[in-house]
Amino acid sequence: MSSLFEDFPNRKNTRSAKWDMVRTLYGADDVQPMWVADMDLTIAEGIKQALKNRVDHGIFGYTITDDEINEHVKQWILTQHQWETDTNWVVYSPGVIPTLHMAVLTQTNPGDKIVIQTPVYPPFFDIVKTHDRELVTNPLIYDGQYYTIDFEDLEHSFKQGVSAFILCNPHNPVGRVWTKEELEQLAKLCLQYDVTILSDEIHADLIYPGHKHIPISSLSEEVNQQTITCLSPTKTFNIAGLQVSYVIIPNEKRRKAMNKAFRKYGMNHINTLGISAIEAAYTEGKEWLDQLIQLLERNRDLVVDTLADRDEITAIQPEGTYLIWLDCTNMKLGQAELKKFMQEKAKVGLNDGISFGEEGNGFMRMNIASPTAYVQEGLDKIIAALDDLN
Ligand SMILES: Cc1ncc(COP(=O)(O)O)c(C=O)c1O
Repeated sequence: MSSLFEDFPNRKNTRSAKWDMVRTLYGADDVQPMWVADMDLTIAEGIKQALKNRVDHGIFGYTITDDEINEHVKQWILTQHQWETDTNWVVYSPGVIPTLHMAVLTQTNPGDKIVIQTPVYPPFFDIVKTHDRELVTNPLIYDGQYYTIDFEDLEHSFKQGVSAFILCNPHNPVGRVWTKEELEQLAKLCLQYDVTILSDEIHADLIYPGHKHIPISSLSEEVNQQTITCLSPTKTFNIAGLQVSYVIIPNEKRRKAMNKAFRKYGMNHINTLGISAIEAAYTEGKEWLDQLIQLLERNRDLVVDTLADRDEITAIQPEGTYLIWLDCTNMKLGQAELKKFMQEKAKVGLNDGISFGEEGNGFMRMNIASPTAYVQEGLDKIIAALDDLN
């Protein structure tokens, strides 16, 4: 294992959300941050060098994209996910969240119903509600260890008239990488009831061995026309602060509407360093990513195996993402008490399960994209605090 993943620079006082908001969020400075989805890992050398070279150039004027960068994007998607896209389908944006806002604005109308699958990434709630669309939840089915889709409930919602469905694949926070069969069933329903698919696939490259990410758009030409797919190298390569992403929109009418909206809201310019980073990530980042997956697999097994020995907390084994959904319902604490336990007794800063929807009551989310020793330290503190309870 490269020393890249054994240590990381001090992130305090770098205006890091993860590190410099600890006191504000958790009330003390000595709480170990394991929350927001970025990594305590140094980026790939190729990306760092590309950024340095771009900085050394010394001029940061308005920046354009071109066929070369579109081709890198196309090749990455083809190699990683065996999905044949077209360079004309790519639209760049400052992030997946801004893209989803634009998608709701352009692909649906005020008052329309939009479905999300809870528990789910918290901004999805606002992305629907802030534009005066009606939020419809299709809660996932949980059997105490594993999450699946409630297709019956989904079809029931679709029958009431739904205009769009926000898919999260791989799913944050439950870690599912939806299978081909599940995606086919989803797509069939969306086509049958003419529901537009807004697919957030930002975690697509973070897949554990034994699982395979399938872009829903790749299932058939019909689904392709019905779907817009949000992708980004930011989660994969730990460059979220560069605020760059892209969206694949095969349908021309949908793409025109999105481009128009990005222009209307002044969001059609592209971050100079972000573009340099995409190019370097997609041409030189694969080896780093392979090493990252090995580290994440080790960290995942550490957390899941350690907690398997405890009755109080079950770690839901993720198939993708570097986020672990912790079922703490056996602790029989109210959510406020659970949060207090984690931050004041264990001294770890996790994401509050309830922010992912009411199904997250009794849960917390842990970020494991850090050196193994760091994850071990957080885990040890949780175990010691659990021991103290008994
Ligand atoms: C499912 C999901 N979508 C979107 C984002 C954020 O995307 P961006 O930073 O590109 O807006 C995250 C970040 O954690 C995420 O987990």
